[in-house]
Amino acid sequence: MKILVTGCCGYIGGHTCVELLNNGYEVIGLDNFSNSKKDVLDKIKIITGKEIKFYEGNMLNSDILRSIFSENKIDAVIDFAAYKAVGESVKKPVEYYINNVSSVLNLLNIMKEYNVKSLIFSSSATVYGTPEVVPIKETAKTGNTTNPYGTSKLFVEQILKDVYKADNTMNICILRYFNPIGAHESGLIGEDPNGIPANLMPYICKVATGKLECLSVFGNDYDTKDGTGVRDYVHVVDLARGHIKALEKLNKEKEGLFIYNLGTGIGYSVLDLINTFERVNNIKINYKIVDRRPGDIAECYTDTTKAKEELGFTCKYNLDDMVRSAYNYEKKNVK
Ligand code: UD1
Repeated sequence: MKILVTGCCGYIGGHTCVELLNNGYEVIGLDNFSNSKKDVLDKIKIITGKEIKFYEGNMLNSDILRSIFSENKIDAVIDFAAYKAVGESVKKPVEYYINNVSSVLNLLNIMKEYNVKSLIFSSSATVYGTPEVVPIKETAKTGNTTNPYGTSKLFVEQILKDVYKADNTMNICILRYFNPIGAHESGLIGEDPNGIPANLMPYICKVATGKLECLSVFGNDYDTKDGTGVRDYVHVVDLARGHIKALEKLNKEKEGLFIYNLGTGIGYSVLDLINTFERVNNIKINYKIVDRRPGDIAECYTDTTKAKEELGFTCKYNLDDMVRSAYNYEKKNVK
C-alpha cells in the first residue's frame, strides 16, 4: 500500500514513517521543513534500510499535491503537516488557520479529484478544552479551546465530519493525541523544537544538558495528587504504532468516520516526570515552582477502552522508557 505522509519529517511524522516502512508500507512523503530538518530523511533510511519517495513543498500548493497524486497511486493519506505552538498561535491566528485548516481543505479537494477516500488526521486532546471528567472518553464534549492552535484542530474535525456526512464512502480516522514525548531508541530522530521549548519534556531535556538553567513548574496548587498538572504522556513510538492500527482499521472497514484517543491512560504529574527523569538518567533537574500558566488545566488523561477494543491499540513503553529515550536523543543531537 502507498501512503502519503504529510509532515513526514516532523516529530510524530518521522516516527510514523519508520513504523510504516517497518510494516511493509510504501511511503510518499511531503514536507516543507517549516519545523523539521532534511536529515530526518537520511535517518529514517538508516533506521529502516528503506527509502521514502520524498516531495518538498507545502500542502497549500495544489500543484505539488496534484503531482504527488498523479505520479503515485496513493491508497491513504496520513496528515501531520501543521503548526503546533500554542503561544505562537495566539499571536499569529491567521497564519495558523491558513496553515492548519486551509491546507486540509486543499488536500481534501485534491483527494476528491483523485478519488482517494482514506485519511488519518492528527488531532489533539486539546479539542476537549477543560475536560469535565477524567479519564476522557471519545464521547466527551469538545469545544472551548483556548487558542487558535486548538481551535484549528476542532475546525478540521468538524470539516471532516461534514465531508463524511456528504460522502459516506469516505474512510476517515481522527486521532486525538495526548502528550507525546520520548524518541526512537536509535537516538537518531526525536523532538527538536525551534527556540525555547514551550512543552515540558523538551524543556527538562535542555535543563539536563545545561542549555537552560532552570525549569519553571507552572503551579503546585492544582487539585491533583501533588498539586502539579497531570497529563497522559505517551511514547512517540507508541503513538506512531497507533497510526498503523488506524490504517488497519480503515483497510478493514472500507468506509466510515472513526475517532480515537491515543494515550496510555495513566496520568503523571509534572513532579512525577521530573523525579522519573532524575532517577532514570541519574541527573539532577534544577526547578522552581512559579505561578500557573494561563489556559492550563489540572488533569488530562485518556480512557483507553475504545482504542484498545476497536484498534487493538495498547502502549508498549512506560514513563522510564520515555524519559530515557528523550534524554538519549537530546544528548546525541540537539545543539
Ligand atoms: C500543550 C498544549 C496542547 C498541545 C500539547 C502538545 C498548552 C496550553 N497546551 O499541552 O494544546 O496539544 O502541548 O504536546 O500549551 N509545564 C511546566 N513547565 C514548563 C512546561 C510545562 O510546569 O516549562 C507543565 C504544564 O503546566 C502542564 C505540563 O507541564 O501541567 C505539560 O505541559 P506541556 O508539555 O506544555 O503540554 P500541555 O500543556 O498538556
